[in-house]
Amino acid sequence: MTAIDQLVRDNIKTLRPYTSAREQYMDYGLTLLDANENAWGSIGMADNNQMLNRYPDPYQRAIKEKLSEAKGHLVDGIFLGNGSDEIIDLLIRIFCEPGRDEIITTTPTYGMYKVAAAINNVAVNEVPLSELFELNAGEMLRTVSEHSKIIFLCSPNNPTGNLLGKSQVQKILDEFEGILVIDEAYIDFAKDPGFIEQCTEHVNLVVMQTFSKAWGLAGIRLGVGYTSKEIMYYLNRVKPPYNVNQLTQMHALTAIEDAHEIKMVVARVQNGREWLRNELSQLKIVEQIYPSEANFLLVKVKQATTIFNILIDNQIVVRDRSRIQLCEGCLRITVGTEEENQRLLDILNTIEL
Ligand SMILES: Cc1ncc(COP(=O)(O)O)c(C=O)c1O
Repeated sequence: MTAIDQLVRDNIKTLRPYTSAREQYMDYGLTLLDANENAWGSIGMADNNQMLNRYPDPYQRAIKEKLSEAKGHLVDGIFLGNGSDEIIDLLIRIFCEPGRDEIITTTPTYGMYKVAAAINNVAVNEVPLSELFELNAGEMLRTVSEHSKIIFLCSPNNPTGNLLGKSQVQKILDEFEGILVIDEAYIDFAKDPGFIEQCTEHVNLVVMQTFSKAWGLAGIRLGVGYTSKEIMYYLNRVKPPYNVNQLTQMHALTAIEDAHEIKMVVARVQNGREWLRNELSQLKIVEQIYPSEANFLLVKVKQATTIFNILIDNQIVVRDRSRIQLCEGCLRITVGTEEENQRLLDILNTIEL
């Protein structure tokens, strides 16, 4: 048994997974009478070249090969999910025994770790970040018990926007014997390459990235997990057979061809972010703007909920984070287009409290 096997729930270890019809024979030139598909084509599709009448590749091999080249990570260590949210849920289901095990994460952080744990009846141990939203690895490691199966870290962190200190994350990577998930949904906006490289040395590491942010493809629902073959083995057994649909796979392949455009998109977001920071800092209602390496700003304002409601009345939606520990009085504002940022500013400028 590997170290990973020992962390896996017993029922998952002994699971006999579903074997999908498209697993072995992906050649659409064959006479495919094995999967009860519609051999004539698809309703509503004048052009049947997209093969929407067929089940898609369950292992999304074409996309993984391209990602493997781009990221320098082995193909067999790349998992694709229906958004990163699916990967979070799968990991909890693989490793955490309901009613017994726990995950550890920080507070504040991305809310889905806690929700996915709650859905699976898994406890959450939330370790607060410092006032400046820094991670204290020693403090987190001191809370680890035999039931702590997964640590979720988010860097750059949502909703705070900062990268977690590298040495602190490294300490957890070096010392934690469970599964470490580093959620890098916003890493493209940061001046840091992230942790993918470390997956080679650490079998227990999963680095999550997503097509929803810098790629601008939140609508296709595609999340990526870079990890070890050992963890892939279980992810592939537990996932729904066709978790990434054909339209998403085709679109992702086209997008990857245009990956060079990401730099331009990121520069535009960074410029917008710094413009917004500068303009917001001149408003009387703004008390503090936190450093951000993501595509949003966490902004402490006077009377956050009142401001949130005024914005809503003006058809502008931001995220009210004011009731979250350490984010009291804060709104999280996504960087929009130049026009959207200006519209936000125009409304904020009219507010007197
Ligand atoms: C930190 C973080 N991780 C994951 C996600 C979800 O990603 P996906 O759209 O790939 O499910 C989000 C979405 O806002 C996020 O902020």
